[in-house]
Amino acid sequence: MSPIDVSNLEKISTEIFAEADTACVAVAANIAECIRLNDTNKQTTVLGLATGSTPVRLYRELIRLHREEGLSFANVTTFNLDEYYGLNGDHPESYRRFMQDQLFDHVDLKSENTHVPNGLATRDEVIQSCQAYEQAIIDAGGIDIQILGIGRTGHIGFNEPGSGPESRTRLVTLDGLTRRDAARDFLGEENVPRHAITMGVGTILDARKVYLLAWGEAKASVVAESIEGEPTETIPASFLQTHRDCVFCIDEAAASRLTRIRYPWLVGPVEWTPERTRKAILWLSQKVQKPLLKLIEEDYAENGMSDLLTEKGFAYDLNIELFNTTQHTITGWPGGKPRADDSNRPERADPFPKRSLVLCPEPMDDVYCLGGTLHRLANQEHEVTVAYQTSGNLAVSDNDVRRAIELIMEVEQDREDREGVGFARKVEQQLNAKGQFGEDTVEIRHLKGFIRRSEARSSARLLGLKTEALCFMDLPFYEKGRYRRFKSEESDIEQMAELLNNIQPHQLFATGLGHDPLSVPAICFQILLNALARCEDKKWIKDCHIWLYRGPGSEWETHEIDMAVPLSPDEFENKIRGIYQHQTQRSQSPSVSGKRDRNSWNLASDLNRATAVTYDALGMAEYEAIETFKRFKI
Ligand code: F6R
Repeated sequence: MSPIDVSNLEKISTEIFAEADTACVAVAANIAECIRLNDTNKQTTVLGLATGSTPVRLYRELIRLHREEGLSFANVTTFNLDEYYGLNGDHPESYRRFMQDQLFDHVDLKSENTHVPNGLATRDEVIQSCQAYEQAIIDAGGIDIQILGIGRTGHIGFNEPGSGPESRTRLVTLDGLTRRDAARDFLGEENVPRHAITMGVGTILDARKVYLLAWGEAKASVVAESIEGEPTETIPASFLQTHRDCVFCIDEAAASRLTRIRYPWLVGPVEWTPERTRKAILWLSQKVQKPLLKLIEEDYAENGMSDLLTEKGFAYDLNIELFNTTQHTITGWPGGKPRADDSNRPERADPFPKRSLVLCPEPMDDVYCLGGTLHRLANQEHEVTVAYQTSGNLAVSDNDVRRAIELIMEVEQDREDREGVGFARKVEQQLNAKGQFGEDTVEIRHLKGFIRRSEARSSARLLGLKTEALCFMDLPFYEKGRYRRFKSEESDIEQMAELLNNIQPHQLFATGLGHDPLSVPAICFQILLNALARCEDKKWIKDCHIWLYRGPGSEWETHEIDMAVPLSPDEFENKIRGIYQHQTQRSQSPSVSGKRDRNSWNLASDLNRATAVTYDALGMAEYEAIETFKRFKI
């Protein structure tokens, strides 16, 4: 098989950056250069802007350039891509408010030069309002630089699947997955508007230069399809292939599904490191649908891997080596098997018992991602602590709070004890006063947090954990913030470091690597890394193994797995029961990569079962379900 030419495969110019921050600095520098050039020529610069998590760091960098390097926006006009229909500009989730908070209020842009589609146009006015928006862009001289994010449906702006390349600014209906992705911002999917006004794909394609930004593994599939697939209405971002000057600026996690990253041996000669060899052979086995031990030389040769054979010898040797490596990832002893030979086990035998610390960005991540493993750790008598890094209170709906209030009132009234009633009544009044979209008061957030704590306890009990083993950290960054706008602080790191030093874990389970940098798991992971750096000189850290779980809604790919913990049918059922204890999360949990028709509860079981099927197909033993971990070394 001859190598694939990347320039034919990637139909959009793509720059991969180690981190989102570096990409944002580069794009901001290009924007600044354009503004300065136009200023010299006494011309206005017209920017097309996006909202959402993705461009937040870009806007922070533009603000820095303004404050520290004198970049002026006095001659800049902006047009935002979209706005929710029915929200006025003061609504906390309106895109007008977002832009004011994230950029406009911090630079010298003239407010009359900022444009966001009018979400309050009546049905009678909306067509005309959209046409006027198009006309205003034309009157301003067209867009010089358009900034885009990408939705997991492949949308740009709110051009959902089905949007054609000629589409213009218009009223659209939001896709179910897009609404689920916005559920947490709106404190419940039921509050997310059903419609939005968006520039069309055609409007976007008219911009002279387009930068699409994407961060995190959750965007990896749709990014790859947009760049490598055919232009199609199913993925509106793929129409950017027809643009003359469009660049995708993405981080490594978002690039991870591009052919040149995922299967580099198909694209050209590669260095056959042990990691790459493992990845390629596991891929080969899945591609030709043969267990590892049945792969033959022709399979290697026909799939771009003949140089591996030339370098490393016979298929038989490669197969058997990888079979053993994969076999050795499997263990029913996630805390290590005491008094056993551990030379081929993922976790060491000693010390026993271990102090195992499980860090969860939000309640439910524990049972959802490692419920079976936790059950085993507890049964095998390790000292387990589960620390919930944030309260997760933003993910509780008002309706669930009302149910709790009624319960408190009823119990307290029955006992003729009025104290709890006083609190419940106060929260009830605050709920009534804030209305559907208002900010939660401190008391409402507390009560929501308590609800999540009670669910976490009831789930942990099923996993065999004592409730004293649970630690609710309520990290300050979350308590003070809103989704997409969190900023961690010194106190978060201090609190994390204190917990680590108190427990001095022998093993630590955590998540957040490769997630969107503004997401709760990614922020929690960064806090953990900073805290670990502070514990650098402590003795315990030298002997602490860190195991990463992938996070709700996705699993490690087979070649990334260092520990695979099989679950028996009973353990698996118990885990599912544990997930069901998180009653308030039924409609609130983040939807998950590409799975549109499954709620996240079902998805946990789908993923664990799928891993078991994959292991079976590779020629390992057949299990009911498997949870997976990757070793992380600092
Ligand atoms: C926002 C917009 C959307 C977002 C996309 C990604 O103005 O037009 O297309 O860019 O939904 O959202 P985030 O960045 O929050 O992942």
